Amino acid sequence: MTKRIGVLTSGGDCPGLNAAIRALGKAGQDAFGMELTGFMNGFRGLALDESIDLESSRLSGILTYGGTILGTSRDKPHRMQIDGETRDMTEACIATAQRHRLDAVVCIGGGGTQKNALRLKQAGLNVITLPKTIDNDIAMTDTSFGFDTAVGTATEAVDRLHSTASSHDRVIVVEIMGHRAGWLALTAGTAGGADVILIPEIPYDLDIIADAIKERSRRGKSFSIVAVAEGAMSRSQAQSKAGMNEPKQLTGHVGHTIELTGEIEERTGLESRLTILGHVQRGGTPSAADRVLATWLGTHCAQIIADGKYGVLLAVRGNELELVPLEKVAGKTKLVPPEHHLVTSARMVGTCFGD
Ligand code: F6P
Repeated sequence: MTKRIGVLTSGGDCPGLNAAIRALGKAGQDAFGMELTGFMNGFRGLALDESIDLESSRLSGILTYGGTILGTSRDKPHRMQIDGETRDMTEACIATAQRHRLDAVVCIGGGGTQKNALRLKQAGLNVITLPKTIDNDIAMTDTSFGFDTAVGTATEAVDRLHSTASSHDRVIVVEIMGHRAGWLALTAGTAGGADVILIPEIPYDLDIIADAIKERSRRGKSFSIVAVAEGAMSRSQAQSKAGMNEPKQLTGHVGHTIELTGEIEERTGLESRLTILGHVQRGGTPSAADRVLATWLGTHCAQIIADGKYGVLLAVRGNELELVPLEKVAGKTKLVPPEHHLVTSARMVGTCFGD
């Protein structure tokens, strides 16, 4: 019997989504004779039954495109804004899947998507998730597609900021995405040789940062690059969050790096500038590594659907793909362990983490 598969992309977009849709569709259709329906704008399209038939012509020529041909949103099935009201659309999602006689729905997304997919699983839907995010913070998977491209983009930015910082003898603070986890700032900062890297997992002390920058000046390096994750926080901010019983990594604070840049200028006496990379990090064509990873995940997903295995995240573990039950993934965040080998290496080449 022909299997019918639904697919949606949910959460922030990232490079590689189209490569994954293409891989799932081509493998599903050509290797297993499946039919593929795409739902528009994340879980909203599933709830409202807004779909397109992903026939083979729609899958052609999209491998290298950034974004997602399906559109995306941060809508949650159980709390969706519909006509100005917040509604639980879980049953509507299930009804759509039944109407299309779907054997499974593939949800391509990040941390939030794992929780939403688990809710649908608990409501009786066959779901499989594929890991995508530039943040690299999905639990139980070594990596996710989108991350490699974003690392390349952010590293190139750090490289470019180096030459202007050194020409003007300035400190340049560069804000890098990552509101809970600092993987992107850590990796791009290390690749670009940032002098200071600040991540949410290692709360910083401004005096330590200023001392490190002043010490560089004393040694004749009158410029510095400070790579800051969106969610980085000072020790006192971390303490007050802990005091309020808030998870430490919950929020990226708007304006935080503006304030930080001012503080650094005041404490070091060096002219300082801020660059916020923002959504540039999410856009554009996927790197070769992300295209390959998305293709591997998409094609393997078709295989596990053919095998009738559902309710799992298709996770990358070393050189293998593993099926991890969604219960083990949902609601968890993969943070940078402060003793991670990359942190240790960066410290050994003189990078200051502000601690
Ligand atoms: O989760 C991916 C991410 O790009 C984060 O790094 C960033 O904090 C957030 O999304 C931004 O989300 P939005 O595009 O909805 O503002």
